[in-house]
Amino acid sequence: MRRLLLPFLVAAVAFATVAALPAAPRPAAAAPDRGHEVTYDRYSLKVDGERVFLWSGEFHYFRLPSQQLWRDVLEKIRAAGFTGVSLYFNWAYHSPAPGQYDFSGVRDVDRLLDLTEELGLYTVVRPGPYINAEASGGGFPAWLKQVPGRARSSAPGYTEAYHEWLDHINPIIARHQVTRGGSVIAYNVENEYAANTDAAYMQDLQDTARAAGIDVPITHNQCCDASWTPTWASGLGAVQIPGVDDYPQSFECQTPEVWGPWGEGVTERLSENAPVYGAEYQAGAIDLHRAGYEKCRELTGPAFMKYFYKSNLIASGATMHGFYMAFGGTNWGWLGQPNDVYTSYDYGAAITETRQLTEKYDEFKRQGYFVRAVAPLTRTDPADAPASANPALGTLARSNPDTRTQFVLVRHADRASTTTEDTSLDWSTPDGEYQVPVRVSGRDAKILVAGYDLGGQRLVWSSSEIMTHERIAGRDVALLYGRSGEPGATVLRYPSRPSVRVLSGSVRTSWRDGDLRLDYTHAGLARVAVSGGGRPPMLLLLGTDQTAAEFWRTDTDAGPVLVRGTELVRSARVGGSTLSLRADTAAPGEVEVFAPRSVRRLTVGGESVRVRPTTSGSLAGRLHGPAPVRLPKLSGWRYRPEAPESRPDFDDSRWTVADRTTSVSPFPPTTLPVLFAGDYGFDYGQVWYRGHFTATGTETTVDLNAITGRDGVYQVWFNGRYLGSARGGVQADSEPPVNQNPGPGSFRLPALAPGERGVISVLVENLGHNDDWTADDNRFKQPRGLVGASLPGSTATVRWRLQGAHRERADPVRGPLNTGGLYGERHGWHLPEAGGSWAAPRPPGPGVSWYRTDFRLDLPRDQDVPLGLRFDGTGPYRVQIYLNGWQVGRHTADLGPQREFVLPAGLLRERGANTLALAVTALDEAAWSPPRLVVQANHWTGRR
Ligand code: GAL
Repeated sequence: MRRLLLPFLVAAVAFATVAALPAAPRPAAAAPDRGHEVTYDRYSLKVDGERVFLWSGEFHYFRLPSQQLWRDVLEKIRAAGFTGVSLYFNWAYHSPAPGQYDFSGVRDVDRLLDLTEELGLYTVVRPGPYINAEASGGGFPAWLKQVPGRARSSAPGYTEAYHEWLDHINPIIARHQVTRGGSVIAYNVENEYAANTDAAYMQDLQDTARAAGIDVPITHNQCCDASWTPTWASGLGAVQIPGVDDYPQSFECQTPEVWGPWGEGVTERLSENAPVYGAEYQAGAIDLHRAGYEKCRELTGPAFMKYFYKSNLIASGATMHGFYMAFGGTNWGWLGQPNDVYTSYDYGAAITETRQLTEKYDEFKRQGYFVRAVAPLTRTDPADAPASANPALGTLARSNPDTRTQFVLVRHADRASTTTEDTSLDWSTPDGEYQVPVRVSGRDAKILVAGYDLGGQRLVWSSSEIMTHERIAGRDVALLYGRSGEPGATVLRYPSRPSVRVLSGSVRTSWRDGDLRLDYTHAGLARVAVSGGGRPPMLLLLGTDQTAAEFWRTDTDAGPVLVRGTELVRSARVGGSTLSLRADTAAPGEVEVFAPRSVRRLTVGGESVRVRPTTSGSLAGRLHGPAPVRLPKLSGWRYRPEAPESRPDFDDSRWTVADRTTSVSPFPPTTLPVLFAGDYGFDYGQVWYRGHFTATGTETTVDLNAITGRDGVYQVWFNGRYLGSARGGVQADSEPPVNQNPGPGSFRLPALAPGERGVISVLVENLGHNDDWTADDNRFKQPRGLVGASLPGSTATVRWRLQGAHRERADPVRGPLNTGGLYGERHGWHLPEAGGSWAAPRPPGPGVSWYRTDFRLDLPRDQDVPLGLRFDGTGPYRVQIYLNGWQVGRHTADLGPQREFVLPAGLLRERGANTLALAVTALDEAAWSPPRLVVQANHWTGRR
């Protein structure tokens, strides 16, 4: 049975009688005491009764450890036309140990929510507790593995733990709700909770949120489609707005030409009373097969976006969308889940890890501006679609029951087809019957609109797509577009014949029975001025995909502004006769502004720009680009070898004794004592083990097992002599096929005399913790570190001790995921202030070698120059990279694929002194060439 909705939500089910304009995200800096009412019905969310089209991009603050760059990326997301962002909150990122929580610095999510508020972006918050997200433990802190009771269930141990998290995060979220003047418009509980479910737990998450003052609608993101049950649409644990995650294009980046192998990608309606919600719609991919993220970007590029996003919009009528990811970011430190991802979480997203805008960004902009501008889209029902004369092209339609505006999707009937097809639609529009010619070239899709009050104009139909339109300086400025070289036609209706001037481009006009018809081929940017005819004047801009994407729309107190040119318009302000833009350029170029009447002058980035009026009624001028930048060469490297732990005389008397005989882990230890690192409080990064024994003389090998996560290794020494390395295991399966021998390694010992003392030293990588996608402790609670150790043929007892980064001693600034248990890390060699004696560099040998250097930067203040660290060498080694003490990446020179690592501004002092420290773990003798600094992009910017 459906749960009763809160009273105010019941009231909201009676939908509006006229389609209101979609509420633009709440204006910046609304008084915090001025709350707004958030309601919804089967069509859309509403704020104060106004329909909202939620078009949000996913952003992981924890993958961008720099507050100043949060603003940069959020401004870019907003500029693409997104009306919101979707944010996971990562429990592990904030909690090093039970009872310990940190929301300061790069973990200051209160500040993050201030920012979304300031930028007028609605926020869907997703605090889990489980988030998946290819994060270590799926966002669960590693300490949770020691808590008895199945995670993601109502087991008491887990319940106590997640309450602790929610008690910290919910109050922060609560005060940022739209209902209190903030940006949070919906609250997502759990994550793709579809296997091993427990309804009481799902219900408790919601009750807990409500008790903390969460009063915005609660949502959930169902895995994959409604065939996964429960959908949480009804019964105990039901949410108000059940959503669906859709990844139709799969994660096979190595074959970017694949086309929807995981289905049609149409978001299903799970509830009759709530809007259709594409909670996570694919907007990139995990690079599972290490093909490189450019391939993932290709796999999920503009053709995919056109076909699938538009099909989804018209097939489902969804008005709530979360695109995963808008910006992926970086798995810095030990943040990443160990088996699927590496340092970069670029994701092939529209905004790259280096914060650059791609052609996917342009496609988001074209679609995002459309859904934002065309209000009737917030309330549509399925409608009869006009028949297509050419059966190769199929149609699908929706219409708004109030305005009768029609939206017709045209695309290949066979979605794999790549042919170019022409058709004529037999279209019964609200304004009459028409034959509408349309061309579709290959994997494309178009949403054509008919019967639409476009500002003060009446659009009868167009075979061009609408990007946006605004009333600026008393006229309607409309931007329509199509693929370059394709024919287009637009029909507008007037009470009397208007006067038409084609200002640029080639456009044929004809007039018949009140219809002004324009015919053209999409090429460059055509401009048509229409006046008279009983309507306000209009400037019609007819662009191609490319020229349309050159436009930016932004709001000012004096009204909206359209800008053509620049790389990015972040914001605009009108003061008197001056329009001030915060914009970026990559090269010198033209800028053109369509601004309120009062505007006569233009400044960009605080600099005055000479402008001239154009025949289009705009102002045009030229902007300069960024100055070239020169980077220092990294030199003066110093070196320090470590791994004293491998020496027999090393003093480990203060290390933790491995003395446990039982574990919470579902994986039974193959030997005793329990050696699982987490059972002794060592959760992240490398762990050292030292095993002491007195030989019986029968020893031949030491046999070990370790679980490290995919591609992890461990290294073994005996009495200071390097015995070699082995691949760690991914997991030990407790279900068939049973694998009780994960990450095996057998290492030959020298002949030992009876009574001879021996010390085995083992350095084990821990690349992170398994996720809990299936809500199954057998997977999530897999241990890390050594899981078995024996001396076959010997009765000698080995006394083990271990050492690592203890959860009670996490770096208070950089957080629990920054450092592991290397000797150098334990002694602060990665920190800028590290002292000690460092020598001239030598090549790395088996074990760990540290290299350090300092460099000064003096990047221009008004330029945004993302810098990277580039490694050219390959070899049997792995490098942990510390920038000013922050572990920004891990270069696996033996495996790849990543060679360039982002040095994020904020952690990087763009004007000042920086320290780089590299911990190189070599499996063998290695030739090594130090990395170099590289410029990843260069913009003159209004960022600051
Ligand atoms: C979804 C999940 C996300 C992320 C995504 C793949 O199933 O909800 O957290 O893991 O898959 O990138």
